[in-house]
Amino acid sequence: MQFSKSKDEEHEEDHVTEIDGHKFKPETLVLGYGYNNKSCNYSLKPPLFLTSTFVFPKSKVGKRAFELMRGVAKPRKGEKSAYVYSRMNNPNLDIFEKRLALFDQSDYGLSFASGMAAVSAVPLAFCRPGDALISTDPIYGGSKTLFNYFLNDFGIKVYWVPADAQKEEIEKAILAAQNDGRKVKVIYTETPSNPTIVMTDLEALNELKLKYSTPENKIVLACDNTFLGKLFLAKSKLFFFFRTLLSDSNYFWSRCNSLFNN
Ligand SMILES: Cc1ncc(COP(=O)(O)O)c(C=O)c1O
Repeated sequence: MQFSKSKDEEHEEDHVTEIDGHKFKPETLVLGYGYNNKSCNYSLKPPLFLTSTFVFPKSKVGKRAFELMRGVAKPRKGEKSAYVYSRMNNPNLDIFEKRLALFDQSDYGLSFASGMAAVSAVPLAFCRPGDALISTDPIYGGSKTLFNYFLNDFGIKVYWVPADAQKEEIEKAILAAQNDGRKVKVIYTETPSNPTIVMTDLEALNELKLKYSTPENKIVLACDNTFLGKLFLAKSKLFFFFRTLLSDSNYFWSRCNSLFNN
């Protein structure tokens, strides 16, 4: 029996993606992907890591890990980032994020403690004072409050378009933001919308994202999703999104947290 490892050099030890020439589909891989049982006394399933901090073999290793975590240093080729603090990452989150990214056929996944944490991360990561965010309307009430009130205080203006708007109407909002001297950084949607279940034309949003992105200002297209989940929002529709937000409250556990996939 011949096992083949994933091409993902960084985590080569953790994934078997092929046995005897038979390639596994993501649906099968998600069951064991990202977990190396050798590092956990051959436990069949990953144990829960109930720790906040981790030990470094040398203080130098710890210094490097903190630098990578803070983004002040870039990982060298093949360099694995060490776990620093469970609030940032720990082995369980790592496995969870890798499996969801795999299932989504995206490069990375990030998990957040709540849906609103994931939604808030979008403007906080990509917008700065003076920038604009285009959003479809309606969206989840908490997101709407964040966009309407809190972002305003940070100098970020939100331009709203109806969830079922035609491409021309959305383009008008982009042009209005530009006329106001603002850079559009994010086009945000939630489809089907909560609570009215209106569908948004994702392809139109993508076309506009590409049309108005420049090498200096790449617009991020973000899509929140409560009602459909990954199973029903076809991958063909998701492929062009830089960011998809999935509420695993509704998708996995019928009530819990949110996931932000990159
Ligand atoms: C579309 C959508 N986004 C975000 C959230 C917020 O999720 P959380 O309650 O986990 O913060 C919800 C909650 O139902 C939602 O429906």
